[in-house]
Amino acid sequence: MLLEIKDVHRSFGGLKVHRGLEIGVEAGVIFAVIGPNGAGKTTLFQMISGLLPPDKGDIRYRGSSLAGLEPHSIALAGIGRTFQTPQLFADLTCLQNVMIGLHGRLKSGFLASGFRGRALRREEDWARSEAMQILDYVGLKNQASMLAGALPFGRQRLLEVGRAWAGKPNLLMLDEPAAGLNDVEIEGLKSLIRRMRAEGCTILLIEHHMGIVMDISDRIAVIHDGLCISTGTPAHVQHDPKVIDAYLGRGRGRAA
Ligand SMILES: Nc1ncnc2c1ncn2[C@@H]1O[C@H](COP(=O)(O)OP(=O)(O)O)[C@@H](O)[C@H]1O
Ligand SMILES: [Mg+2]
Repeated sequence: MLLEIKDVHRSFGGLKVHRGLEIGVEAGVIFAVIGPNGAGKTTLFQMISGLLPPDKGDIRYRGSSLAGLEPHSIALAGIGRTFQTPQLFADLTCLQNVMIGLHGRLKSGFLASGFRGRALRREEDWARSEAMQILDYVGLKNQASMLAGALPFGRQRLLEVGRAWAGKPNLLMLDEPAAGLNDVEIEGLKSLIRRMRAEGCTILLIEHHMGIVMDISDRIAVIHDGLCISTGTPAHVQHDPKVIDAYLGRGRGRAA
């Protein structure tokens, strides 16, 4: 397993969000996590990325526990993510936002340095062209010089995918990437996620849009009431009586 969530518990005050969550994610798949609003999907991402500790239990990545690691160490270990509410530098261009995502891969770090020697300039040139290719990859090439804050909300999410992709993640966690996208953009997003999988990246996906989840996922975990109540292929979870009872049965296609 690439990622193992083992007996994870997490509460906020008296609210028990997770009470023994068990999920295993194999390498190379598109793995969706679904469950009603407030089920704790984003909280799970916060715990995996080191922004929030579990109260109990363990999260293991490539066989090692992530317990106690800082978010930047987890990112350097190959876990990238986007946020439900995009976290971009609104006053920087799209290109600059992606260049910032490249910083973990730079040697001399032109971003931090006021001194612009030749090596730094070469690195900056490399970062600029790499970032341009990534913008092209996520479908934002024509917006390279636009300020991130001026992009429509849905496209800010795509820019976040680009920034995360710049870190060459092995595991990429996307928190509701389709929110705010139109139908054409959703088709583009589906193809982008499949291309990322084809390059060997494992995708952990939170998504409200059930059409996307059922179409592109290899595996789905359904969380409900603090536990994973079903895992398997889209066909398996859709027909699992536990899932139908708990969740998909009511308002099918809208909840997530
Ligand atoms: N930092 C926090 N402090 C207090 N409550 C929180 C915090 N983060 C999440 N919650 C609560 O935990 C529950 C799960 O939230 P969340 O993980 O965002 O759910 P989901 O992403 O599945 O909709 C919600 O009831 C939410 O209000
Ligand atoms: Mg959420």
